[in-house]
Amino acid sequence: MLDDDPMSPFEVLDRSYGTFVWPSAVVLAQYVWHFRHCLPEKHVLELGAGTALPGVVASSCGAAVTLSDNADLAWCLENCRRSCQANGITNVRVLGLTWGDVSPDLILLPAVDIILGSDVFYEPKDFEDILSTVVYLLQKSPRAEFWTTYQVRSLNWTIEPLLLKWNLQCREVPCSSFGATFPDFAGTTISSTCTIRMFVITIKEKQDV
Ligand SMILES: C[S@@+](CC[C@H](N)C(=O)[O-])C[C@H]1O[C@@H](n2cnc3c(N)ncnc32)[C@H](O)[C@@H]1O
Repeated sequence: MLDDDPMSPFEVLDRSYGTFVWPSAVVLAQYVWHFRHCLPEKHVLELGAGTALPGVVASSCGAAVTLSDNADLAWCLENCRRSCQANGITNVRVLGLTWGDVSPDLILLPAVDIILGSDVFYEPKDFEDILSTVVYLLQKSPRAEFWTTYQVRSLNWTIEPLLLKWNLQCREVPCSSFGATFPDFAGTTISSTCTIRMFVITIKEKQDV
């Protein structure tokens, strides 16, 4: 993580949803930091951003960042803005984007290079809505990648059939390969409390015939 300039995402004491930096966010922020040299000039969109640690790190590394969260949760969007303010970031756009909705804001969004999503797969009922939004964005920008961290909460949950349905491919990135090494990663005790996995999802390449 940033050595001499620690991030200060805005948190409130309520641990629910977008008001708390989830362990997945710390791991995804580390992945963003690991690839910081790729970020200048890139348009990065964070979905379900909450306190927006990965997006804030991406902005600090020179990306043009759009943060988004549920369009119906104004306080969540305000939280995104406050995280930016707390880190002295002024050039980040904050948008209401509800997964699965093809809203005017989604349609008008400029092409993205990287989509971020930390701990967005936490309610199986939302999995298809998230992926349909991701597919919409990837179809507009076929070279874009969806970088997502997943907290294992049930061994029965899977997005595999949805990846197949939406013509997506998924690559797991070992956390140790980008410096998210446990225990005591980034001063946290993540490893003793949960398992986090990092995935890169893209549009499936056409098979040669
Ligand atoms: C578990 S929190 C993760 C927050 C943040 N990404 C992190 O890792 O710290 C899930 C986030 O998804 C957002 N969210 C939930 N349902 C949503 C929906 N239907 N559309 C867009 N965002 C949603 C919540 O408001 C919340 O910010």
